[in-house]
Amino acid sequence: MAKFYINNKSGRCALSGQVEISGSKNAVLPILAAALLTDEGCEILDVPALRDVEVMCMLLRSMGAKVKEHYIINSVELDASDITSAEAPYGLVKKMRASILAMGPLLARTGKARIALPGGCAIGARPINLHLKGFRALGAKIKESGGFIEATAASGLSGANIYLDFPSVGATENIIMAAVMAKGPTVLENVAEEPEIVDLANFLNKMGARIKGAGTDTIKIEGVERLRGTKHTVIPDRIETGTYMLAAAITRSKVEIKNTVPDHVRPLIAKLKECGVGIEEVDDSLIVDATKGPLIPADIKTLPYPGFPTDLQPQFMAFLSTVKGDSAVIETVFEKRYRHVGELNRMGASIKAEGNVATIDGGKRLHGAQVLATDLRAGAALTLAALAAKGRTEISEIYHIERGYSDYIKKLRKLGVDIVKADDTPLAGRGAAAAAYGGEGL
Ligand code: UD1
Repeated sequence: MAKFYINNKSGRCALSGQVEISGSKNAVLPILAAALLTDEGCEILDVPALRDVEVMCMLLRSMGAKVKEHYIINSVELDASDITSAEAPYGLVKKMRASILAMGPLLARTGKARIALPGGCAIGARPINLHLKGFRALGAKIKESGGFIEATAASGLSGANIYLDFPSVGATENIIMAAVMAKGPTVLENVAEEPEIVDLANFLNKMGARIKGAGTDTIKIEGVERLRGTKHTVIPDRIETGTYMLAAAITRSKVEIKNTVPDHVRPLIAKLKECGVGIEEVDDSLIVDATKGPLIPADIKTLPYPGFPTDLQPQFMAFLSTVKGDSAVIETVFEKRYRHVGELNRMGASIKAEGNVATIDGGKRLHGAQVLATDLRAGAALTLAALAAKGRTEISEIYHIERGYSDYIKKLRKLGVDIVKADDTPLAGRGAAAAAYGGEGL
């Protein structure tokens, strides 16, 4: 299995220069699935070169869609004029939980969808009850058997009023995609407000859908008969942005992060400023300057957008472990998202996790160690810790990291990090078939 080796003689890599942010993983996955809604061609631009994108393309191909991935120019062309299967097999769903996002579009387009049950994952049980609640309200019949969930709507879906008990990102996206071609109006309340929802709604509206309110807690959809093909550029990845902001912060460096949307990372900007990190916004760039003065700790609590993102919690914790003083992290979105704590402690951090609260006795000297990336963002946190750890850090199970970070090694090297991958396995994308790995779809 491939590993990352990060060498850090001085104990704090000095980063400098610029890093360009890629298209958003969490935006592109539902957008690719949404191309199943039309029999016309779609072209998606700024597609990040990631393993999860490959898996989604494999899934769409298994359903009969023609998918061309152009990795040199980061675009994907899709033609779902013939859907030959409405099934997502276990082999692909277990590689990527986001496969469940094919369910809404399949149901809308073909009146049926059969998806292998995703099961639990490293960060908790992650049920799909809210997705199913939405499909049922729109008139689908749901049946579970043999490890599959089957939804059918022989005479089509009908608009409905649906209240989500929790603003689940995936459920919001799936229900929107199911409702865009339902008969009559749909009102979705207490929905997720993430920028990725807005990007999906913009894509669907370009296809001819009538969606209003995306980005607020109430979305109104007027069902239309059919959708047409379109071209769409994916928004920049806010979690990748945040990870590089924290790379600058943990190394007390100054880095410019280009091609991003500062508004999408407001909670992180606020928290880093609270810690004493300088942040300047210049159009679509952020200049993060952690070179001045001692930093102070800050507490964070993860929440649905616009709260502090759970997908930056592990990376922020790695940063806090280098800041002198006590701090606390409260995770409210996922039930078991502290598997990185043990690994960070192996590198010299002093973190105690109990229930959903972690307390950090920050400022301990970090050192290189052999550690394990237990999931995508945990892996990113360990990479960041390695940038502030004296000696050599060896990170295994890096396929998790490659699921979500485009050109990770290349971008880190450009900033000045001494990082190598242990074998010659091609990085994400570039036409390589997705390796046999299990993923959590974060
Ligand atoms: C998406 C993101 C992931 C991010 C998460 C929260 C993608 C591909 N992944 O995941 O990176 O960490 O949002 O911001 O976009 N829940 C239920 N029932 C459901 C659905 C969810 O109880 O039917 C619970 C989950 O167990 C979890 C919480 O809701 O505790 C949030 O999950 P959700 O917002 O659905 O996350 P995902 O869409 O899976």
